[in-house]
Amino acid sequence: MAKSIRKKIFKALRIEEYPNLKKSVFELNNIGELKKLFGWKDDAILNDKSVYDFGSIEDINERRIRDAESIGTVCRNIARGTFLEIGTSTGIGTALMSQNAPEAKIYTVNIPPREAEAGEGGKYITHALENEEIGIYYKKLGLKNITQIFANTAVWTPDIGTIDVAFVDGCHDTKFVFNDTLKIIRCMKPGSFILWHDFNLELAQKRSWIRSVCLGVDKLYEKGLLKGRIFHLKDSIVGVHRIEG
Ligand SMILES: C[S@@+](CC[C@H](N)C(=O)[O-])C[C@H]1O[C@@H](n2cnc3c(N)ncnc32)[C@H](O)[C@@H]1O
Repeated sequence: MAKSIRKKIFKALRIEEYPNLKKSVFELNNIGELKKLFGWKDDAILNDKSVYDFGSIEDINERRIRDAESIGTVCRNIARGTFLEIGTSTGIGTALMSQNAPEAKIYTVNIPPREAEAGEGGKYITHALENEEIGIYYKKLGLKNITQIFANTAVWTPDIGTIDVAFVDGCHDTKFVFNDTLKIIRCMKPGSFILWHDFNLELAQKRSWIRSVCLGVDKLYEKGLLKGRIFHLKDSIVGVHRIEG
């Protein structure tokens, strides 16, 4: 359905999109606010120079730096345990997690390229890299605490024990975000952290894949599967949530 028609219908019926997120998301002005909220001392280590690059309009307002700060700060301050990334791509996010938590055990999952090309991974999959390109960035750095998994999360269930930190950045279709998150939170404990990429309520009005992610997270609240707050650093596209007790 065209965006303008959807907007008119929603307005006429007075339906709000993401009604649950509108109540649960808190925007933070800077990373210091996130540290204060959780009583954290350490700043993220941002070794990858590409966070300072500007590639397209998606990177305005230092978006890459804000994203890396959000992910890196959570990883650095949680530091130990089992971390999971859904969606490896070349492994820049994996390296960020690893460098900020060298004592954690990090798992990163990516759909096998052939399955992605066959459409088994959903619609918003970003890209289907060749096998050897998946994780190439972190492999070149020689990082030791990472385990690579090739799997389509449509049919994969985490089997890595209790998850302390998860970064959800695989297929951005609503149904995938919903299911990936649900499988992960079933493996979490109170105090575990879950982060979603492409999460930003303001940009959800302008970017279809961000809207799709936000709808998936909203649905988890609607069904009572997620409770509590999501923090979101201004200009980033990362949502940060701590599982409540
Ligand atoms: C946006 S990229 C991930 C970027 C990466 N997390 C980073 O920060 O550098 C999304 C990745 O998810 C993978 N992906 C898409 N659908 C998937 C699925 N159903 N299961 C697992 N991985 C999937 C894609 O192949 C792609 O490499």
